[in-house]
Amino acid sequence: MTPLHAPFPLTRFRRARQSPAIRALAQENTLGTGDLIWPVFVREGDGVAQEEIASMPGVYRRTVDAVAEAAREAADLGIGAICLFPYTPMEKRTRDCAEAWNPENLSNRATRAIKRAVPDMAVMTDVALDPYNIDGHDGFVVDGEILNDETVEALVRQTLSQAEAGADIIGPSDMMDGRIGAMRQALESQGHRNVMILSYSAKYASAFYGPFRDAVGAAGALKGDKATYQMNPGNSDEALRLVARDLSEGADMVMVKPGMPYLDICRRVKDQFGVPTFAYQVSGEYAMIRAAALNGWIDGDRAMAESLLCFKRAGCDGILTYFAPEMARALGA
Ligand code: PBG
Repeated sequence: MTPLHAPFPLTRFRRARQSPAIRALAQENTLGTGDLIWPVFVREGDGVAQEEIASMPGVYRRTVDAVAEAAREAADLGIGAICLFPYTPMEKRTRDCAEAWNPENLSNRATRAIKRAVPDMAVMTDVALDPYNIDGHDGFVVDGEILNDETVEALVRQTLSQAEAGADIIGPSDMMDGRIGAMRQALESQGHRNVMILSYSAKYASAFYGPFRDAVGAAGALKGDKATYQMNPGNSDEALRLVARDLSEGADMVMVKPGMPYLDICRRVKDQFGVPTFAYQVSGEYAMIRAAALNGWIDGDRAMAESLLCFKRAGCDGILTYFAPEMARALGA
């Protein structure tokens, strides 16, 4: 749809830009606090509640108690969903990754604590083995190979333990094949009919995850890269095939990750499928904006707001972002 325009001067585009009120009227896309999912890092211990992540200034690892407190504050700001990532103590990381489905693991305790403190907060949990794996990989590693089918069985166990703990949205970030169908079937058969799956369908093997791996303590452990399971950044059609596959296996919502370098993928997914589509503004994107702002090289508040609004323009229904509380405050909640 390309509308015809009368020639200049009958048409003057600047008329629609002449004042804040008129610009607001002509604005096509908007960002609201309801569009934001806040990723939060959980750690053991009590006492000092917060530990700042060196490569992500302004982002903290929080104890379970502090996560519940943060959820209360987020709810007051109008944020409706929190996504949990555990910083598993090193001694609990093993080759069999059993901590991933321990009902008392950090993620499950934090889920219950949030649900007690703020029952209306939607809790999303991450399904992948990397925070529990001695190898730092999302799946089991045998002789240097990341096993698919054996990993899927473990992911199903992890999914059920998260659903038991009260998670509303399960977020598989592992990129194994066949996981969505297996997880959906298990959830149905175990009475978790309303638990949603937000699939990390198009997750790329990206350099922009670096600060996250520091945050969950997986950076040191990781041997090699994740290129045999995460997507090649050169691919676009493949993202559509992955989304189609995940929807056919029972995903409710899909995600593109990272965000800003992949807005073209967001747009294609939304146009093609029209399903709830999310982008993850990942740790490296956050770090770049924050670092440049702290150096005085860009206006951090404006860069944050612009980067998030542009996800909406690209077709996303919502965004996972470490800026969530700050953005919510800026939106005047
Ligand atoms: C791993 C996982 C990663 C992120 C979310 N889940 C990192 C990875 O794949 O290595 C990245 C999030 C971020 O960078 O903010 N299952």
